[in-house]
Amino acid sequence: MNLEKLLADRLAQAFSAVAGGPVDPVVRRSQHADFQSDAALSLARRLGRPPRDIATEVLDQAALADLCSAVEVSGPGFINLTVADPALSSLLSDMAEDARLGVPASAAPETVVIDYSAPNVAKEMHVGHLRSTVIGDAAVRLLEWLGHRVTKANHLGDWGTPFGMLIEHLLDLGESEAAHELSVGDLDSFYKAARVKFDADDAFKERARRRVVALQSGDELTLRLWRLLVAESEKYFLTVYDQLGVLLTEKDFYGESYYNDMLTPVTDELDRLGLLSDSGDAACVFPEGFTGRDGQPLPIIVRKRDGGYGYGATDLAAIRHRTRDLGATRLLYVVGLPQRQHFEMVYAVARQAGWLPAPARAEHVGFGSILGSDGKMLRSRAGGSIKLVGLLDEAVTRAAELARQKNPDLSEADIAEVARAVGIGAIKYADLSTDRIKDYVFDWQRMLSLDGNTAPYLQYAHARIRSIFRRAGIDQFTVTPITIGHPAEHALALELANFGAVVTTVEQTLEFHRLAGYLHTLAATFSGFYEHCPVLRAEGEVRNSRLALCDLTARVLRHGLYLLGIATPERM
Ligand code: ARG
Repeated sequence: MNLEKLLADRLAQAFSAVAGGPVDPVVRRSQHADFQSDAALSLARRLGRPPRDIATEVLDQAALADLCSAVEVSGPGFINLTVADPALSSLLSDMAEDARLGVPASAAPETVVIDYSAPNVAKEMHVGHLRSTVIGDAAVRLLEWLGHRVTKANHLGDWGTPFGMLIEHLLDLGESEAAHELSVGDLDSFYKAARVKFDADDAFKERARRRVVALQSGDELTLRLWRLLVAESEKYFLTVYDQLGVLLTEKDFYGESYYNDMLTPVTDELDRLGLLSDSGDAACVFPEGFTGRDGQPLPIIVRKRDGGYGYGATDLAAIRHRTRDLGATRLLYVVGLPQRQHFEMVYAVARQAGWLPAPARAEHVGFGSILGSDGKMLRSRAGGSIKLVGLLDEAVTRAAELARQKNPDLSEADIAEVARAVGIGAIKYADLSTDRIKDYVFDWQRMLSLDGNTAPYLQYAHARIRSIFRRAGIDQFTVTPITIGHPAEHALALELANFGAVVTTVEQTLEFHRLAGYLHTLAATFSGFYEHCPVLRAEGEVRNSRLALCDLTARVLRHGLYLLGIATPERM
């Protein structure tokens, strides 16, 4: 059903016949026709023939009569294809009939583990965790929709040396006061107060050190206090997830401590494989191909001299667990770019140890930073880290104002619903619509604007289509055949037919800005259609066909935004 692929398959056959071997026709959308293939140009050198001759011969051979109304060779040897309206009509009628919008589930479903969000216990979630949560959530939605078995792994930072000082601070405060501070999200002041004492007070430092030892040796009282810290922080993180409307639940917490029992076997196995070396301070692995600025090989620290395990050891145990026990073949790590090297090293060790056997592979789904208007890392006015809940609340408040201005007829209940969808949607969309490896500037004005590549623009486009059906008094639209005639219908149909190709690309690349950009183009193309083609004023079959185009556009917008984790209110 994927139009681009359909055309590419037909051209590929003709190209192969002409070239005497397989050729990728590289079909893409074009400004000069609907689609274009440039493959004759690169083939010319290989075959030692003029590209125009090749293109002409390919078009003579290609079976395109049922799909194209015009095919031509242009310029130095481009092939231009114009899709025939009857072909578009039948493709779109099929798409409209299909609850999956013409996008089949994957023919080769995989077990995928997505490691994302991963805030740290007793520490405020920062905007990096926001990015990880939003991108990871979109990945879960898209891959699940395509039929993959997805495990959401929230790799909470819930173990390690800071817990000595955190537990001692908790004891100083008293359990109930500490629990209160943590549950209301006063995480930063809790952490900082512990840190201040740790740095200033030697007796406290010594208590903290002893407490780490007690924690690592499984002392019951210490474990109980540790659990309290973890439980209160988890409760707080869940309120943030709820406010964000992401799919993470309490079942998805697989914190670092989850892997504790696996650390000794993992270390033993590394040792048996001859991968472990003693650097004096710690037992390490030096993966091949990683050196520091001084040219010395870089280590992954596995076990420190005091017996404690490092962040890297836990990540190695997690990989081994995910491939061996969960049977995952695709391991995704949605973590900021500064940790890229850490993960590349962990993957290298895992491959050397045989814990990532093909077809299993690990991918770092890295992302850039969120910047303030000054171009520096986003900070609060006081210069501290931004409190996420505050940011989300502000988004909803601003969106409520916008909703009131835009539509004074909305009830307060409707405004609340719209404000949440638009405010949270704007924050997520600002993130997902930029190339994720780039930094972006956090800008309220822009993300909440009703025009441009924004969530409110898309949500409004969707609501406007829904209002067409309200005005027509149609509650449940029954799909009717689509007939493409007008050029604006043709343009809209081409966009709609492209949905599957975009989803397939994002399935591989996890570049959600491609899906966002697609939805934005679709909404803009719909505007052109709506301007030129009367819908409710049309009659008979034309009216029905145009209503079907409206309905299909609304469904693609709605589902596309759903895949990005963004809600679509019925009215705005
Ligand atoms: N807790 C870490 C942080 O805040 C992120 C963990 C990422 N996942 C992992 N498997 N190491 O930076």
